[in-house]
Amino acid sequence: MTTFGPDDFADPADFTRSDDLADPGERDTLDPLPDPTERDVESTLRPRDLHEFVGQPKVREQLELVLHGAMRRGAPPDHVLLSGPPGLGKTSLAMIIAAELGASLRITSGPALERAGDLAAMLSNLVEGDVLFIDEIHRMARPAEEMLYLAMEDFRVDVVVGKGPGATSIPLDIAPFTLVGATTRSGALTGPLRDRFGFTGHMEFYTPDELELIVRRSAGILGVDLREDGGREIAGRSRGTPRIANRLLRRVRDYAEVRADGAVTLKVARDALAVYDVDELGLDRLDRAVLGALVRSFGGGPVGVSTLAVAVGEEPTTVEEVCEPYLVRAGMLARTPRGRVATATAWLHLGLTPPPQAPGEATRSLFDDASG
Ligand SMILES: Nc1ncnc2c1ncn2[C@@H]1O[C@H](COP(=O)(O)OP(=O)(O)OP(=O)(O)O)[C@@H](O)[C@H]1O
Ligand SMILES: [Mg+2]
Repeated sequence: MTTFGPDDFADPADFTRSDDLADPGERDTLDPLPDPTERDVESTLRPRDLHEFVGQPKVREQLELVLHGAMRRGAPPDHVLLSGPPGLGKTSLAMIIAAELGASLRITSGPALERAGDLAAMLSNLVEGDVLFIDEIHRMARPAEEMLYLAMEDFRVDVVVGKGPGATSIPLDIAPFTLVGATTRSGALTGPLRDRFGFTGHMEFYTPDELELIVRRSAGILGVDLREDGGREIAGRSRGTPRIANRLLRRVRDYAEVRADGAVTLKVARDALAVYDVDELGLDRLDRAVLGALVRSFGGGPVGVSTLAVAVGEEPTTVEEVCEPYLVRAGMLARTPRGRVATATAWLHLGLTPPPQAPGEATRSLFDDASG
């Protein structure tokens, strides 16, 4: 039996937040990143083929051509890069690519490829036609990345043996494969790596209609009694993100089972989401804190992202990668060269009167045509 001492537990200080604006529980509900406990349910809800994959019409059509073209020629397709915010279906698409090709999928991630040797081992084990999926490819170490260039281009790696002047490099052929890379930050990829992908799919936030289909499908799989307007309500508050839609569905189901008769009606969905502090537009406390600070402390901006992050007691990367993409998408925040600016929509959403200089509704309205 294992016994635990006090040292086995993390210092509680590691968990404290610098203020109470962003209760971690609330952030979790709308965090587009997966919760480790969600893996199982996520995999049951994953679409299995291109037809089950809802939305992303552009990427889906392009990918279908790339895959079927290659299958006709009997050659592995070009390497594919999938880029877009977390929770939009990059991993699901990578699995679908392998399934469509009838190939097996090998999965790794950028942070796991710390040394070139890690990647060499992975590559040399590939069988012809395999799909190699590298998640968070922008976080791969430099030497591994350089090895990948050659592998992608010539299906060859140079393994360096020894050190210093005596080191020799042994060329090693690898089986022709297709690389699928996923990244939430395509800007962080080096030019040479980006150039070696024959096809890049840019994933967009989903429309409420698409999210409604996804929620409905998930409810069917999970056996949730989801009524029409209940599904619509959940979809509208899911920040354009399927992972969040599925998560809200599970939270609303809990509420429906504990506080109601199990059916997810409009009223049940609204009451449940109020408990989780998710507002009509899918903003949570941290989003509202960011907008509130921008508007109340900085007169609507412009203000730098790090200043804004300090004001809400968060890391700049959290504000930049978790809050901002959706706030920009929802037309509430503009990123300008001089800093972040609140739009008139943001002032109105907080129940305040926008000053005359506030930029009008952002040029893109909420969920306009994603292909634009
Ligand atoms: N187009 C879709 N249709 C139906 N369900 C989807 C779709 N896209 C994503 N999902 C659901 O959302 C969940 C998250 O998707 P996925 O893990 O593929 O996202 P991701 O883009 O890889 O996220 P991350 O950047 O965090 O790795 C999946 O479990 C799946 O249930
Ligand atoms: Mg993923």
